[in-house]
Amino acid sequence: MGFFATMPGKGVRLPLGLGRGTNRPSRPDKKSEPPSIDAASQEPRMLKRQTPLPSKDDVHVRFAGVSKTFDGTSKIVDDLDLDIYRTEFLTLLGPSGSGKTTCLMMLAGFEPTSGGSIFINGEEVYNKPPHKRNIGMVFQNYALFPNMTVGKNLAFPLEVRGVDTTERSQRVARALDLVQLEGFEDRRPSQLSGGQQQRIAIARALVFEPDLVLMDEPLGALDRTLREEMQYEIRRIQRNVGVTMVYVTHDQQEAMVLSDRVAVFNEGRIQQVSDPETLYEQPDAPFVSEFIGENNHLPGLVSEVSDRVVSVIVGNARVKAFGVGEFRVGDASTVAIRPERVALSPEPGLYSNEFEAVVNDIVFLGDHLRISVRVIGQDDFVVKISNILGHGLVLPGDRVTIGWSALDCRALALE
Ligand SMILES: Nc1ncnc2c1ncn2[C@@H]1O[C@H](COP(=O)(O)OP(=O)(O)OP(=O)(O)O)[C@@H](O)[C@H]1O
Ligand SMILES: [Mg+2]
Repeated sequence: MGFFATMPGKGVRLPLGLGRGTNRPSRPDKKSEPPSIDAASQEPRMLKRQTPLPSKDDVHVRFAGVSKTFDGTSKIVDDLDLDIYRTEFLTLLGPSGSGKTTCLMMLAGFEPTSGGSIFINGEEVYNKPPHKRNIGMVFQNYALFPNMTVGKNLAFPLEVRGVDTTERSQRVARALDLVQLEGFEDRRPSQLSGGQQQRIAIARALVFEPDLVLMDEPLGALDRTLREEMQYEIRRIQRNVGVTMVYVTHDQQEAMVLSDRVAVFNEGRIQQVSDPETLYEQPDAPFVSEFIGENNHLPGLVSEVSDRVVSVIVGNARVKAFGVGEFRVGDASTVAIRPERVALSPEPGLYSNEFEAVVNDIVFLGDHLRISVRVIGQDDFVVKISNILGHGLVLPGDRVTIGWSALDCRALALE
């Protein structure tokens, strides 16, 4: 079990009062801003864009009211509207079966739409076959030709496009250089590692210089370390080359690492499209709040609405939260609060939400501690606290106070 051991009945030194003043209240006025793609400008220098930031005025791909049904009745994709900006890294994130691959297939031209329109560079593409859409694609299973060398695999897309021999070998060399596999021309796919094969698949998707690249779970077959390495690699390449990327994954962390914006899918509908930080800090829907990171959810009824702060009766307590959307007294709501935004034993009166709780369990996770408590009728409310030693002792069964700011929790409308 190592680091991840639970310690029932054992004392664990806990940073009592650590939450004091460490919470970072969100600004209520920030919420109504449109999705921002400025996060990319905050990156570490190595990953900084060498291409201009995507502009909302330069729409590369547009889904307009797109729907898809395979059987004529159930809609796999339902009235999808989405603009993807030129040179943007946009990720479709959602659970299995939510329609992500279907969207890529329609964009690539391998599946017809059942309704609505897809535009690429302003042109409606319904009747345009895949090979005329000039899109590079990478799938989960590398799909390299096993009987051809790496060089031949890379030259193939150029050959079918009628590029001459000299130009072909130059472009193949450039593509290999881009994925840092110079000198691998004569190997066969079976002589490469999984990560190398995936690099070649990426090089092959880029070798004919498309301006739009689609990737469907390209790292799904790789182990965790290699996957993380390849995430940075993909991002570096996408920034360097300046292509528009539409990327599919069901791994939320991968989506956060890679993307300018993430579109969260559920049952064929987009729940929210935002930059990663907004998605985490300001989820608009219960599905997003549950799907992205960890959240405590407190169900209740709205008892008071004042400007943007909403009071919700949870059990027999009153929780104050930032209201997302319009609420009226009596509406059902679920209040979402991140475990790391809850303070243990805060200074009395510091937060507008302060409740007595009983400690159930404490889990030591190395850099932080996860404390499960019973509070206002909830059996498994989670508080996450950084592991800074020397602050006192909490044991299962102890009574404690927990507190959080109204602006750090969000009252979401129940669908
Ligand atoms: N050719 C097809 N015929 C009938 N149903 C299909 C077809 N392709 C996909 N579906 C159905 O459409 C739904 C969405 O599938 P899709 O492959 O787009 O999901 P996904 O979000 O990519 O999931 P995953 O993360 O598992 O890859 C699923 O219920 C699937 O069974
Ligand atoms: Mg899929």
